[in-house]
Amino acid sequence: MSDTTLAAPKGVPEYLPPDSAAWLAVADALRTPAVNAGYGYVELPVFEDTSLYVRGVGESTDVVSKEMYTFEDRGGRSLTLRPEGTAGVMRSVIEHRLDRGPLPVKLWYAGQFFRAERPQHGRYRQLQQLGIEAIGSEDPVLDAEVITIADDGYRALGLTGYRTELTSLGCAECRPAYRERLTAYLAGLDLDEATRARAVQNPLRVLDDKRPEVQAQLADAPLMLDHLCAECADHFGEVRSSLDANGTAYVLNPRLVRGLDYYTRTTFEFVHDGLGAQSGIGGGGRYDGLMAQLGGQELSGIGFGLGLDRTFLACRAEGLQVGPERLLDVYVVPLGAAKARAALLATELRRAGVRTDLSYGGRGLKGAMKSADRSGAAYVVVLGERDLEQGVAQLKDLATGDQTPVPLDQLTTHVKELLP
Ligand code: HAM
Repeated sequence: MSDTTLAAPKGVPEYLPPDSAAWLAVADALRTPAVNAGYGYVELPVFEDTSLYVRGVGESTDVVSKEMYTFEDRGGRSLTLRPEGTAGVMRSVIEHRLDRGPLPVKLWYAGQFFRAERPQHGRYRQLQQLGIEAIGSEDPVLDAEVITIADDGYRALGLTGYRTELTSLGCAECRPAYRERLTAYLAGLDLDEATRARAVQNPLRVLDDKRPEVQAQLADAPLMLDHLCAECADHFGEVRSSLDANGTAYVLNPRLVRGLDYYTRTTFEFVHDGLGAQSGIGGGGRYDGLMAQLGGQELSGIGFGLGLDRTFLACRAEGLQVGPERLLDVYVVPLGAAKARAALLATELRRAGVRTDLSYGGRGLKGAMKSADRSGAAYVVVLGERDLEQGVAQLKDLATGDQTPVPLDQLTTHVKELLP
């Protein structure tokens, strides 16, 4: 590559027309159920103090230990491009004292997140998420609400090839004892050195090891779901019955392991079968100790992050038509001296909400009609000098080829009636 050729950084997806219309529709569909459930929008910084993620997400996670874009600013402060959204939302809620108002605080956000991962299909260094967080209620109905919102968003897009995997990771009461039990079990296995080290640092993550020789040894491993304390077991039971009441389908996956350290109790992941290795289209769960850990009150929380890039790919994989079928309603073709009136006509149509483009540069009828066809518009309006004298424009339906003269002062109303 010559050094004059510019290219986007590695692992950064771009969405260009016409695909970008489907991209916007994905974001729209996933956002709507959250807005309908009373979540308010928060616009948060894209970079934060590095310590927020070290304290909030966990130093031993891959996200923090290997994948952060960390830099020093001109004042010598260590900043990090946000790798995820939950820690930032907590920081903001504490800083702006939203937790002192009515609870739960229900918020949604969307935007770019950054992880220095090895790029591959569906795994990017700049990724986009749509997330919600509900802070300050332990009600299991809220857990079911959060999961149902995501499921409703996916279903609104028409997705069917995914499943919701669900488990409970227990709490500060029951997890330590379970962890000890699991560590003891893992110590008796024939594992390589790196896995042995992982078993000591984060035993739960070993359960997620995909290698068959490891999986074979894990068949009888103790599972958190079988060792929940009575309160966690009750809570989980209520989450499940609330999901059932909502008609939100899920499968239990007691070996579900998330990549971030803050999760407690209800934890879930949305897995799509059409994406290969990067099958997680979204995930989330409870994080009942996070706010206190970041210096706030002892308030519980639950939320999700849905991967917009992967959801977009999942829609593609299922061959779904997402977003508007066409991006343009009308293409205006001016001929000769009719140009100024045609431009005004285009403006009038646009102001009336009709998506309209115009042929520029005084092109001939043939070339302009070719552009009209390529534009994807449903109708062409041709305005020639003779039409102008007669106060009409020629309205052509590109699907049928029918052409009719329409009085100029009625054109906008007429076109609006024709459009769905
Ligand atoms: P996460 O599972 O790390 O959770 O990310 C959520 C979603 O973001 C993933 O399921 C995936 O679809 C997408 N994603 C993550 N990394 C990449 C990547 N490198 N390329 C493309 N897509 C990616 C969180 O971030 C939590 N903050 C979610 C949450 C909110 N939990 C509670 N509240």
